[in-house]
Amino acid sequence: MEEAKQERKKRILSGIQPTGVFTLGNYIGAIRNWKQMQEDYDCAYFIADLHALTVRQDPAELRKRTREAFALLLACGIDPEKSLVFIQSHVRAHAELNWILCCNALFGDLGRMTQFKDKSAKHADNINAGLFTYPVLMAGDILLYQADYVPVGADQKQHLEYTRDIAERFNRIYGEVFKIPDAYIPKAGARVMSLADPTKKMSKSDENPNGFISILDEPNVIMNKFKRAVTDSETEVVYREGKDGVNNLMTIYSVMTGQSFDEIEQEFRGHGYGDFKKAVGGAVADELQPIRDEFKRLAGEKAYLDGLFARGAETAERISQRTLTKVKKKVGLILP
Ligand code: TYM
Repeated sequence: MEEAKQERKKRILSGIQPTGVFTLGNYIGAIRNWKQMQEDYDCAYFIADLHALTVRQDPAELRKRTREAFALLLACGIDPEKSLVFIQSHVRAHAELNWILCCNALFGDLGRMTQFKDKSAKHADNINAGLFTYPVLMAGDILLYQADYVPVGADQKQHLEYTRDIAERFNRIYGEVFKIPDAYIPKAGARVMSLADPTKKMSKSDENPNGFISILDEPNVIMNKFKRAVTDSETEVVYREGKDGVNNLMTIYSVMTGQSFDEIEQEFRGHGYGDFKKAVGGAVADELQPIRDEFKRLAGEKAYLDGLFARGAETAERISQRTLTKVKKKVGLILP
């Protein structure tokens, strides 16, 4: 996010929670696009560690995972020379804007969020206020950087709509402060499904490790998980309503190889699912290999990573303070 570039390029912002090694779903739905967008946009990407606190975390584990997540982003090709990369909690403005926005967020709107309902059901012993106001923190993340586009998977669409709503309401009440962002949801791969149950989203927190591919899985593990992937009792590799398992594998293969569904159908005409699954596993293993290698290399680069944390925090602090200062003035706070 260099100053000179800001006038010419549209701004992109997105984040990911450090709640485990990223999955193929995170990669296809988000990070792979983040990498490509670096060439044409002014990009900022961050590790959403404050969001992770909405579910009970082991403190030492969270610290480890946050470092790991940062290194994983770099390993996936997010280049700190091209993009601003930072850790959310290093930038005070996120928590500060969250409070101000919370005072303008309506209880009824937040209660309608599907993620809140899902997570409350899953963590019934810890339905905390942070879980409820999670979309407000997320809206603040985006609005602080005046982002034009937010590249996310389909599961974040409702949160993006909420961000637009709260920004519009704030602008209406206090005057123009926030740019109204658009979600950028990829056409293919916006919702990668579990390999064990293709009616469910692929998720890092799945208890069944066969349901998800971690981007650090070894090639033989990847091949085995695809071999076991749940499909159906037919034999034809075609994209069709009701063939959730095959549709999911075709989507993954299409993103990995750049082939259309028609081309994939032709390639596997007359072959069974076995050959197809082997090809999908192979394509995924090949794409993830350099990421795993680079991640291993970065594990030994502690000082380099610490330096990037500091640099990212400093730049993000500067950019976010501009918006926060405007917001504080608008709502009537005296600046220190
Ligand atoms: P998180 O950490 O759950 O996921 C990170 C990104 O990965 C996408 N994703 C998927 N895409 C396709 N198929 C899947 N199975 C799949 N699973 C996850 C998500 O849509 C997301 O884009 N609330 C956010 C983090 C966040 C954020 C933000 C994002 C916090 N503040 C501001 C954008 C802007 C989240 O929990 O993502």
